[in-house]
Amino acid sequence: MMSDLENEVKRLTALGLHRRCVEGDISRVAALTLEINRLKKERGAVVCAHVYQAPDIILGIGDLAGDSYKLADDCRKSPAGTVIFCGVHFMAETAKILNPEKKVYVPSNNAGCSLSEAITAADVKKLKADHPGLPVVTYINTSAEVKAESDCIVTSANAGKILRRMYEANKAVIFIPDRFMGANLARELGKTPGRDIILWNGACVVHEKFDPALVELYRRKYPGLAVLAHAECPSELIKAVDFMGGTGDMMRYVESTNAAAYLLVTECGFGELARLRFPGKNFVAMCRLCPYMKSITLDSVLALLRDPAAREVTVPADVAARAKNSIEKMFELAA
Ligand code: 13P
Ligand code: SF4
Repeated sequence: MMSDLENEVKRLTALGLHRRCVEGDISRVAALTLEINRLKKERGAVVCAHVYQAPDIILGIGDLAGDSYKLADDCRKSPAGTVIFCGVHFMAETAKILNPEKKVYVPSNNAGCSLSEAITAADVKKLKADHPGLPVVTYINTSAEVKAESDCIVTSANAGKILRRMYEANKAVIFIPDRFMGANLARELGKTPGRDIILWNGACVVHEKFDPALVELYRRKYPGLAVLAHAECPSELIKAVDFMGGTGDMMRYVESTNAAAYLLVTECGFGELARLRFPGKNFVAMCRLCPYMKSITLDSVLALLRDPAAREVTVPADVAARAKNSIEKMFELAA
């Protein structure tokens, strides 16, 4: 009879994880996933995994996986009383705001985000005072305090749609904090930054550094290449690609098309997952690691399950109540 560990190795191998084990060989990974899944069940917890996490986390221990919109939505529909968020802090905070009765944890103290750190609630108050009457449309990559000062939250999956709805009733909007995403959306909607859309100077440390000049080089080298980029990339790069969107949209694009090869201009975990999900498709490598996302490992998840107290995510009730209004507005307008 096979041991539990041998069965786990078999399960992970069937998922393709034996071809990609950054945390050691497949037996070490299997020993970790086995123990994490056992403790998770014992504690009545679900693991939410963003698509930038390593595949060992998404496929080995993840219960809910996807982009930031899907995870926020799935979390509020999950009956589990405990959520372990394998993603960055603002995502876990959003889950806590939407589900105050649930216990929410992040396995790392370093799971921040450069966009979230780019703007404070005091900055938003000043923007509102400088542009009276304009609604504040805020990317989900922000703190609970910034969300509390906002009118509507968006993610990369619904920002275009929600901005269109906002422009039906407003001549101009404030869009924070990603200057590239704001400029990319403005271009898509035919709006002028500084006049129709007031931007902030934030950027993602991962996406801002992709070099637009490389896209043409890749196209020459790989004929028939489909180039997909996350909406946080610089506008010069976005002008050169075939598709701009959030991670959910990018995955659906790969699934529904048949290009000779795909270049995925985003965090590396996304490409690793796409390779495992679509083994028959070709992927050309160009990616960057997010140090915040990658601060979460199987070891850190196991440590959290053994001693959760230090990693609990909390949001003051008055901030949570105001932030919840702007997140609920997103669900209403994205529907
Ligand atoms: P998505 O909502 O597209 O998953 O993006 C989240 C993120 O942090 C991108 O850098
Ligand atoms: Fe933040 Fe960029 Fe990392 Fe996404 S990839 S979590 S935007 S730093």
